[in-house]
Amino acid sequence: MSTTHVDHGQWSSRLAFILAATGAAVGLGNIWKFPYIMGENGGGAFVIVYLLCILGIGIPVMIAETLIGRRGRQSPGNSVKALAIEAGANTKWSVVGWAGLVSGFLILSFYAVIAGWAISYVFQAGAGNFNNATPAQVETIFTTLLSEPSTLIFWSTIVLLGTGLIVGLGVKHGLEKAVSYAMPAMLVLLLIIAGYAAMNGDFGKALHFMFYPDFSKLTYSGVLIALGHAFFTLSLASGAMMIYGAYLPTSTSISKSVLAIAFADTLIALIAGLAIFPIVFGNGLEASQGPGLVFVSLPIAFGQMWGGTFFGTLFFIMLSFAAFTSSIAMIESAVAWVVEHLGLSRMKAALSTVSILWFISMLTVFSFTGAEWAKLDFVFIGKHVTNYFELVDHLTSDVLLPLGGLATAIFVAWVMKKPAVKEEVDMYETTFSIWYFTLRWLTPFAVSFVFLNLVGVISF
Ligand code: PHE
Repeated sequence: MSTTHVDHGQWSSRLAFILAATGAAVGLGNIWKFPYIMGENGGGAFVIVYLLCILGIGIPVMIAETLIGRRGRQSPGNSVKALAIEAGANTKWSVVGWAGLVSGFLILSFYAVIAGWAISYVFQAGAGNFNNATPAQVETIFTTLLSEPSTLIFWSTIVLLGTGLIVGLGVKHGLEKAVSYAMPAMLVLLLIIAGYAAMNGDFGKALHFMFYPDFSKLTYSGVLIALGHAFFTLSLASGAMMIYGAYLPTSTSISKSVLAIAFADTLIALIAGLAIFPIVFGNGLEASQGPGLVFVSLPIAFGQMWGGTFFGTLFFIMLSFAAFTSSIAMIESAVAWVVEHLGLSRMKAALSTVSILWFISMLTVFSFTGAEWAKLDFVFIGKHVTNYFELVDHLTSDVLLPLGGLATAIFVAWVMKKPAVKEEVDMYETTFSIWYFTLRWLTPFAVSFVFLNLVGVISF
């Protein structure tokens, strides 16, 4: 297999990059995952750790990944390899890029299934099925969805096919257009729902739950989940930021763009929490009920609020868009690799990639339908997993992403030559020193510490 240098094209402007990377960042992670893992891990203390992880680890690593992409200008593995050569280091470092590519690919195998739930809810909401429904009825709609393999397969096929087609259309035509409308609309809708939830749900209890830290409820595995989620929600260690960075014009400031993206992402996650938890507490739902949380709580609100059919339908349309703009980011680097190495056209590369993913996505589908063969029962790297979905989710978010982030930090701060790094990031002297120090010391230390605790090598 030979590597030819393929020109993948560039974003048309800084704004196009910010929109696309925000599109990658904001997705099911913010609206589906963040609220339910917060619910499972006790609320406030988890939120604080999550925010610290975004600030102290996520943002520095995000800058590092984007700079690798922009300096290397190829698919992640090849970019890291090119920079290792530039630094006179071992080309095996390219594993940092490869690992990301694999993680993004694996994440999409379950992400497509959840995105399928979101699309199916567009039709549930549109048909008025939530109108005046009791919490028990809404729960039944959700459990019925999960019990039907054919429905789950149908919707996840639509997601994978749609993702393949958008990615196949290419950098400028597909990706940029898809993201520019969904993000602002999503924010406005979330604010409307949060406003409704504040007036009609138990807002006080939600605020207390989300922002009053009770550290006795936080476990070490909770800390690792917060750390892994910081990577997941910013789309780090999954090839996405490296490949999006590869399309970034040289004149754009990486650090400013990254700050804007991380801010928007965090804001949306917190607002999602504020939209969901008042309804959860106001209706006596279980905060720790797991992956179904948003699909049960918000429909209750839509069923009761004025214009609920309209807002509900619109909300799930936006959520589906947000999921698409993330899923395209997850396989973009795998597709770029196939184009570089196998010489396929973009469209063929994209469609073959999603076809393989379709098979892997069955593991998640049948985990949710409760099929016997998809059930597991063992401890895998510090976590007891009960089905394939939990295994893939844990393997990516809690293991591969933190370790990938750690490797990226080490590569940029220890392996690359400082002048090259400095030239690429274009920061003021003090800001550069703070970022560089964080990446060199804090990130590796913090990630190793949390991880070693999880696997039981150290215990604090
Ligand atoms: N950040 C996305 C979300 O929060 C998920 C994602 C992970 C996207 C990895 C791209 C790469 O939904």
